Amino acid sequence: MTLLREHDLGTPARSSDTVVTIEVDGMPVTVPAGTSVMRAAALAGIDVPKLCATDSLEAFGSCRLCLVEIEGVRGTPASCTTPAAEGMRVSTQTSRLEKLRRGVMELYISDHPLDCLTCAANGDCELQDMAGAVGLRDVRYGYAGDNHLDEPKDETNPYFTFDPAKCIVCSRCVRACEETQGTFALTIEGRGFGSKVSPSGTNFFDSECVSCGACVQACPTATLEEKSVIALGVPRRSVLTTCAYCGVGCSFKVELRGDEVVRMVPYKDGGANEGHSCVKGRFAWGYATHKDRVLSPMIRESIDQEWREVSWEEAITYAATRLKAIQERYGVGAIGGITSSRCTDEEVFVVQKMVRAAFGNNNVDTCARVCHSPTGYGLKQTFGTSAGTQDFRSVDQADVIVVIGANPTDAHPVFASRMKRRLRNGAKLVVIDPRRIDLVRTPHVEASYHLQLQPGTNVAVMNAFAHVVVTEGLVDEAYVAERCEDDSFADWAAFVARPENSPEALAPITGVPAGELRAAARLYAAGPNSAIYYGLGVTEHSQGSTMVMSMANLAMATGNVGREGVGVNPLRGQNNVQGSCDMGSFPHEFPGYRHVADDAVRAIFEEAWGRTLDNEPGLRIPNMFDAAVEGTFRGMFVQGEDVAQSDPNTKHVKAALAALDLLIVQDLFLNETAAFAHVFFPGTSFLEKDGTFINAERRINRVRPVMRPRNGKQEWQVVCELSAALGHPMHYDSTSQIMDEIAATTPTFSGVSFDLLDKVGSVQWPCNEKAPLGTPIMHIGSFVRGKGHFVATPFVPTEERTNRRFPLILTTGRILSQYNVGAQTRRTENVRWHGEDLLEIHPFDAEERGIADGNWVTVASRVGETSLRARISDRMPQGVVYTTFHFPESGANVVTTEHSDWATNCPEYKVTAVEVRAHAREPLAGANGDGTHEDTPTDVLVGH
Ligand code: SF4
Ligand code: SF4
Ligand code: SF4
Ligand code: FES
Repeated sequence: MTLLREHDLGTPARSSDTVVTIEVDGMPVTVPAGTSVMRAAALAGIDVPKLCATDSLEAFGSCRLCLVEIEGVRGTPASCTTPAAEGMRVSTQTSRLEKLRRGVMELYISDHPLDCLTCAANGDCELQDMAGAVGLRDVRYGYAGDNHLDEPKDETNPYFTFDPAKCIVCSRCVRACEETQGTFALTIEGRGFGSKVSPSGTNFFDSECVSCGACVQACPTATLEEKSVIALGVPRRSVLTTCAYCGVGCSFKVELRGDEVVRMVPYKDGGANEGHSCVKGRFAWGYATHKDRVLSPMIRESIDQEWREVSWEEAITYAATRLKAIQERYGVGAIGGITSSRCTDEEVFVVQKMVRAAFGNNNVDTCARVCHSPTGYGLKQTFGTSAGTQDFRSVDQADVIVVIGANPTDAHPVFASRMKRRLRNGAKLVVIDPRRIDLVRTPHVEASYHLQLQPGTNVAVMNAFAHVVVTEGLVDEAYVAERCEDDSFADWAAFVARPENSPEALAPITGVPAGELRAAARLYAAGPNSAIYYGLGVTEHSQGSTMVMSMANLAMATGNVGREGVGVNPLRGQNNVQGSCDMGSFPHEFPGYRHVADDAVRAIFEEAWGRTLDNEPGLRIPNMFDAAVEGTFRGMFVQGEDVAQSDPNTKHVKAALAALDLLIVQDLFLNETAAFAHVFFPGTSFLEKDGTFINAERRINRVRPVMRPRNGKQEWQVVCELSAALGHPMHYDSTSQIMDEIAATTPTFSGVSFDLLDKVGSVQWPCNEKAPLGTPIMHIGSFVRGKGHFVATPFVPTEERTNRRFPLILTTGRILSQYNVGAQTRRTENVRWHGEDLLEIHPFDAEERGIADGNWVTVASRVGETSLRARISDRMPQGVVYTTFHFPESGANVVTTEHSDWATNCPEYKVTAVEVRAHAREPLAGANGDGTHEDTPTDVLVGH
């Protein structure tokens, strides 16, 4: 593909029930009322010259380049700020306008360095384009403007530069930071010709800037420019693909020069991000070509031997021979596989197919086990589908937004920006979280209520919410009567109405003042459109599934499911966690969440795959580990997951891995798990993959390769060859054929094909005959399961208790610049923002223990201990400490326990009783479960 330049229509789209027709240079054009003359003209194919306008930002009207003449109107109004009105006759090209525009451009150019030929943006600069468009030939004011040309460059941001000498003070960057990103890091200082852009009086790195790149994107000159463009030159071609980091699933144009990636530019037509990005997707892609990547297959007899590089053929034969030998000796069920939520749907599909058809059992599980498995369970029980209910756009229609156990500004930044925009426009916010996350108070956004509950009491808080709704007559009776089961509703209502579920009765347990909880519940019930967004702070608990069902109950009782602006929405952690679950990665379910014991469903796959399939559910990940320690489970294929780093109770996991006869790891880097492996299959980065990811909105997005696999093979090809070596050949000429097989066997995907995705960009499943272009909002009219099902959700405290030995509760989360266990982001400049995990501790708890800010501390739980530095912070309530888990050196999972969700075994990462002690000196790098430290190479790909 050549370089894809999206047509900039100048001002944002308007939607309206009424339309107006105007004439631009004699061309009639009909647009929704409220559309600017500039946009109407662009839609008619006439681009009015502009500098301060761009269609991602509201019109500002400062540059005066877009002047037009309108019949019957005096003067020359700016087309960007003038709404089209019925019958208007507009002229965009007259000699008067041309003269005026040339005058404007002369002023700009007089204060602009004339180094176009050596400028990094040469050929990609709107100022240059406009000078050409207005026919500028001479500058009467000279070229010695004295206001900006001597300004020093700010190069403090690792990814882009700010060169004020080139600034035309159009304010697009300032507005992008406000309107698109919602950070308000930039200001215009001074007035008139002396005004200039400033990152709030400091440099970019030290400012509030979160390096989202929106200002760089908006800048029409080379003032804000990617360092990669300065180093490599203006890109020449682009490929559309999908970010490989979080579950927002942003679409990007990968822009290249030859075969070298120059930059990633967020794609305006991307359904999930609409042209916005965060620092990870926009800038932190360098890991894909990092020198640490392993590119050759490797094998070894035992884990105390050195790795030996071998051919693909030898590695695959070796792996197959040893897998077969294990099955001959220990039985068919002695081996299994784990799929990865970092891999494409197609890559995941072939792994679960290999396990079921070639291994001959259902011992397949996925890393969603450790993050959102309760979402699948809880939403299926209540609504009938294991997925969120809305598209991201829906939040624009929400009146009340409840964020529970999620930190969107760090973990789902592009969606957070959209949410903040809605909040600035008047929606109310309730945050339910032990920690004071940024959303509680950011520029122009403040939560109406922050319910700072004790970790582990989510269900009690939701029951108290429901108590208020039921006992104060706030149930949407008509909705419940029409859409939900009478019996289960009556049982649930009676349950939550019990006095022990009142906010007052539960306040001593939850720590949430009853008055605040009542007010928040009333706000939610009043809506009229109330939406719940939640994250791993909901699911990673012993009652994770119960909590998902309690939120679903509440949403149904108040009529908040089945239209725009409402719903129950999981913010998925990893890029393809939705897809890996959809693709049948669970030991009890085929693709599309259909039970393996269902004869009719099994028959579909038996026919497609040409062999008899096991009707017994297989082992979950924790069961595999237990069985490995017991000696009954001996061989494992791990696709792109680092269980030794990401799963709880590291010591137990490592013991299980060490007990295996054969461990096959497919990954980018030699990670912690690979330390226990006998076969290493090098994996592919997202820049090499060809397939699809499915984001938190159920949106199926294409992932297109921009370079050949650096290891010589696509991951799905390796799996197919391994399956063939095991006696079950799987042949596909391309990944589109894998998607065709998914569509042919899975009703919710029956309308999906690469052709469709290439044509329409993306679709949200279900996509089938009933919904050929997908389903943005679920459960309209009726629930997928028919009537909505209520489930009584008694609060059961976790068994993980604090005591005198472990008096504090540790909870974990993410930070913006790092991702997951950090395998990718630690190999980028993002470490400049966050180079180590820190333990946030309340000033009182710190003082009691003699801990000062920055001190090294030991965190000890019942299962292990680790060391990291303390940050004194009152974001946490007293008695609760918090850390991120991005760095293996601190290894938060060394201390997390094996408590897990009762229904799905999702680990209880969010509640661990610990003690924190001041540390006498800086520890050695690396931590392991017995409290000692070692210098093992620690590279990880996935986690929770
Ligand atoms: S930095 Fe760029 S976007 Fe910002 S005011 Fe200057 S020219 Fe405009
Ligand atoms: S990179 Fe993003 S946060 Fe930083 S100044 Fe630009 S728009 Fe604002
Ligand atoms: S919000 Fe998520 S998907 Fe979007 S660019 Fe950032 S990390 Fe990538
Ligand atoms: S583009 Fe309209 S005033 Fe700048």
